[in-house]
Amino acid sequence: MSVDIRSVITGSGSALPKQCVTNAELAQRVDTSDEWIIERTGIRQRYLASDDETTSTLAIDAARAAIEDAGIEAASIDLIVLATATPDNTFPATATKVQHALGCNGGVAFDVAAVCSGFLYALTTADAMLRTGMAKRALVIGAETFSRILDWEDRTTCVLFGDGAGAVVLEARNASESEAGILASRLHADGAQHDLLYVDGGPSTTKTVGHLRMKGREVFRHAVVNLADVLGEVIAEAGVSVAEIDWVVPHQANKRILDATAKKLGISDSKVVITVDQHANTSAASVPLAFDAARRDGRIKPGQLVMFEAMGGGFTWGASLVRL
Ligand code: UT7
Repeated sequence: MSVDIRSVITGSGSALPKQCVTNAELAQRVDTSDEWIIERTGIRQRYLASDDETTSTLAIDAARAAIEDAGIEAASIDLIVLATATPDNTFPATATKVQHALGCNGGVAFDVAAVCSGFLYALTTADAMLRTGMAKRALVIGAETFSRILDWEDRTTCVLFGDGAGAVVLEARNASESEAGILASRLHADGAQHDLLYVDGGPSTTKTVGHLRMKGREVFRHAVVNLADVLGEVIAEAGVSVAEIDWVVPHQANKRILDATAKKLGISDSKVVITVDQHANTSAASVPLAFDAARRDGRIKPGQLVMFEAMGGGFTWGASLVRL
């Protein structure tokens, strides 16, 4: 592996479905309340895909915005890695639909499945491929339509999730040219925790798509411990101090998890980007959606040190430290 190549984020974009649903509107469909949802999760609203919106249409819109932001030609992209647990079809990969829609007729396109950690898995995979010279310019996308796999009769899960997509353009650059790039990443998986968060269907088992099932309190407990551990690993590997980190862009599952993780890490709440109130939990889309929101409103600036982190079904979890 060449030590001279670093993967640099040169653009970002995001997309949300047209329809926004507030907690009060949800409370008309299921036995819940605005107060309960805000107090337990911090969520105020979520965007839900209509019939004409799918994981690929959201991914394509987010990708187009990222390409425009990076100021590049779509045809110059030679790698698309799309993280999703809700693909348009069982196969082919949703990434290939995005490739065709964008007119990138060449290179490599595939999906990764790591649920809420999907963007971290996709980013780390693309980074490894760029640094080994397998590609030069990548599009890394997190896109989901979790509304399609929710059990709308189950108030313990259906109020927590939303749909959306986020994308970044990642380019191979000579490390001697600038400080920017992915500095360190760590991924983990623990299949022993399967039953705490899974979908009870699939083509090889029930032959149906199935619904999301979660033991929320157990997931919460593991999330705080695992995220604090992996953040510590990445900080140590990069050789930076917590005080040097400008922003944490976490997976947006629950405001209480974000607060507890920030506290454990010893990082100020004011450095944590929070969009869970607006988007709810959008699984693989949540980190790039939050990142794009904070870049576009001017909070995250060039040169800053940004930590991405996520934890999800599997369990899977990971973190990545990036200099913009
Ligand atoms: O993205 C992947 C990672 N996922 C996560 O990180 C999710 C992690 N877990 C969580 O965010 C939280 O555990 C939840 C938000 C899912 C639940 O919060 P909690 O404080 O752990 O509540 P709980 O599950 O212990 O439920 C407390 C009570 C129960 O009633 P009883 O048994 O105390 O009478 C539930 O039946 O709240 C009730 N409840 C609700 N009430 C109103 C559960 N869901 C609802 C609801 N509306 N939607």
